[in-house]
Parts: sequence; C-alpha cells; structure tokens
Amino acid sequence: MSLSEQINKNSLPEHIAIIMDGNGRWARQRGKDRIFGHHQGVKALREVIEASAELQIGYLTVYAFSTENWGRPDEEVSALMGIMVESLNNETSTLLKNNIKLSAIGDTDRLATDVRDRLMETINLTSEATGLNLIVAMSYSSRWEITEAAKKMAYDINSGLDPESITEFNFCNYLATAGIPDPELMIRTSGELRISNFLLWQMAYTELYFTDTLWPDFGKQELYKAIIDFQKRERRFGKTSEQLLDK
Ligand code: IPE
Ligand code: IPE
Ligand code: MG
Repeated sequence: MSLSEQINKNSLPEHIAIIMDGNGRWARQRGKDRIFGHHQGVKALREVIEASAELQIGYLTVYAFSTENWGRPDEEVSALMGIMVESLNNETSTLLKNNIKLSAIGDTDRLATDVRDRLMETINLTSEATGLNLIVAMSYSSRWEITEAAKKMAYDINSGLDPESITEFNFCNYLATAGIPDPELMIRTSGELRISNFLLWQMAYTELYFTDTLWPDFGKQELYKAIIDFQKRERRFGKTSEQLLDK
C-alpha cells in the first residue's frame, strides 16, 4: 500500500505547522553556498503546499523567517528576502488557481517596504479563497507575539477592560493567530530537537514530529509519513486511555 493510501482521511490534522530547517546544511553537503539551499527549499515548500491542498488540510503554517534570523549575515538575510519576493511573484497565480488563501504572522513592520508590499498584495489577492489556509511566519517569534498580545491587552485594560475577564480562551484573540485553530501536528526537519521560538502558546498540546530529513529533501512522501505517524498516536489531553475508550 502506498503511503498516501495509508492515511486515514477521516482523522487528518486540521492544522499542520512546519519548521522548515536544514537548507544551509543541505547546500553545504553539496559544496554549494547556503543560499542555494534556500532556493531548493522553495521547491520542497511548493510540494508540501500541493500535498496539503490535495489532502484538504485546513491550515498549513510554515516558519519561513524568525525574529532571530535577522541576526544572520546581511547577504543571507537579503537573499532570503529576495527569495520571498520572487516566490510571491512566481506563485501568486498558482495560489489563486488552487483556491489557497495566504496570510502572514510576524513583525512585518520590520520587512523592507518592497517585501511587505508584495506580501500584502498576495494576501489581498487571495483573501476570498476558501481552500487551504497557508500561513507564513515571517519575522516571527513566539515571544514577540506573546509580548505584543500582552501590550494590546494592557491598552484594552487602560480603556476599561476588566482584568478579571481575561481567560485562556480569550487571551488567544490577542495573538497573531487569532481565529486559527491550534496545530495538531508540528513537523521539524533537519534533526534539531527544538522549537526555536515558534508557536509556543499554540503548541501546548501539539503532537511533535522530528525528522532528520533536511528541508530541501522533504516532499509529499515525507509529509505523508508524518501524518501516518501522527495518526498512530493517542492524544489523551491529560486524561487516561480508559477514559478515551469510554467515550
Ligand atoms: C532553514 O534552514 C531556513 C531558515 C531558517 C530561513 P537553515 O538556513 O536554518 O539551514 P541550516 O539549519 O543552517 O542547515
Ligand atoms: C528556525 O530555524 C527558523 C526557521 C526555520 C525559519 P533556525 O535554523 O533559525 O533555528 P535554530 O537556530 O536552529 O534554533
Ligand atoms: Mg537552521
């Protein structure tokens, strides 16, 4: 049976989040510069978006550039920004054709005007799409996001919000991901076993999947493997197995 046939289409994750890691090492292993790896990474992303749309996954969040990534060498940062603009130029029509809605989370104010404008343009162009929700985390970090949320809440309290009315269920409305369900599955490629400041609040009960595969080598089959692995897990949410069987 092929991997795609092994997937139970009735218990797919609604939201998959991915830390696309390992582009630099992939390139270095081939004697190329890191930027070459980032270009190859776009191809892997295209395949994963296509597979997610085919499976009718609701939300796919991809970590494209972290707050910490601003600290990389200038040439690498500008190459990554260039790749972002180039990908948006090349792929916007495909997103529209496939009914994919793009949105972004992150401190987009830090982006250069041309990058931000291009990103916003595609977000606006795809805003009516009703298929896959593709969320790109760009200049994003969880601590930035949670700090911003706390700040907005403080302003609301200044304007009369009752602090006692704040709960974990309405706190999430202050996050960049307001309205987006928490991911059920998070995939990180390249063998690193860490979260790197990604969706800390949202991943409180996410199933984590780590693979040694470097991002440019990740594709549909790898995504299927992650989903099959996810579907074998028992998600107990603090309860006992017996309680789950009783339901
Ligand atoms: C992920 O690959 C892409 C970004 C962080 C932008 P890396 O560039 O981190 O590749 P490695 O981890 O150095 O191999
Ligand atoms: C995380 O990867 C950020 C992205 C994939 C965009 P990094 O390569 O930047 O993370 P660390 O440095 O290994 O934690
Ligand atoms: Mg990395």
